[in-house]
Amino acid sequence: MLEKILPTQVASYETYEDPAEATLFPEEEALICDSVESRRREFTSGRYCARQALARLGYSVPQPVLQGRRGAPVWPRSVRGSITHCRGYRAAAVGSASEVASVGIDAEPNEPLPDGVLEVVALPEEQVMVKELLADAPEVHWDRMLFSAKESVYKTWYPLRRRPLEFEDALIDFDRVEGTFSVRLGSHVRGAQDFPREIAGRWITGNGLVVTAIALSVASGSSVDSGL
Ligand SMILES: CC(C)(COP(=O)(O)OP(=O)(O)OC[C@H]1O[C@@H](n2cnc3c(N)ncnc32)[C@H](O)[C@@H]1OP(=O)(O)O)[C@@H](O)C(=O)NCCC(=O)NCCS
Repeated sequence: MLEKILPTQVASYETYEDPAEATLFPEEEALICDSVESRRREFTSGRYCARQALARLGYSVPQPVLQGRRGAPVWPRSVRGSITHCRGYRAAAVGSASEVASVGIDAEPNEPLPDGVLEVVALPEEQVMVKELLADAPEVHWDRMLFSAKESVYKTWYPLRRRPLEFEDALIDFDRVEGTFSVRLGSHVRGAQDFPREIAGRWITGNGLVVTAIALSVASGSSVDSGL
């Protein structure tokens, strides 16, 4: 699914099962030595996806992907990338730093958000949009899609700015027909001044999931999409 919503400059790998052959480097193992089994599984499969995606980008020698500040994955110096995992899905996406400034991907089950969560993560205009989209296309849980898009925004933002970004800091607008969304960061957001004000992402559904992705290009200082 990811390949369909990422530009060709970004290599990705996704799996719907935990690969039996997935292993960790000792430095990675140390990061999850106290974790419960489900966390170990998602982390290990996420690293497997990361190495597969890196191989597709030309990094054929497997290497550890450690954790940086606030949990952001640490990629080879010349790589930008992102990891996601949820029930029944693990994925990673990477691009060359010479072309891609940042990548953010997120997958969620195509299920309604728990009661009360939409009100926390959505701005008032987003709540109206979600309501309208749910009426027009009820097969997609747009509340969950909105949440996913915001997680992708955060994963794109954080490695570049290394600052928190709150849910109310980004305004998402979905294009239901085009499979895209736009992101507008509030002008009050610290670090947003020299960040692209309009960011574009893409969304897709399938296999019981909603998946969102953003790839910011180096060249334009704004997002690239799979049309490029
Ligand atoms: C960190 C966060 C984005 C992870 O998203 P999630 O949907 O819970 O979980 P996912 O499985 O999709 O993603 C987890 C992966 O995100 C990556 N990640 C974690 N922190 C990150 C950060 N600060 N920056 C970039 N990527 C990060 C990691 O690779 C992690 O997997 P790993 O720990 O196995 O390496 C989320 O838990 C969070 O803290 N959100 C609050 C901030 C936010 O979303 N603000 C909204 C801004 S509009």
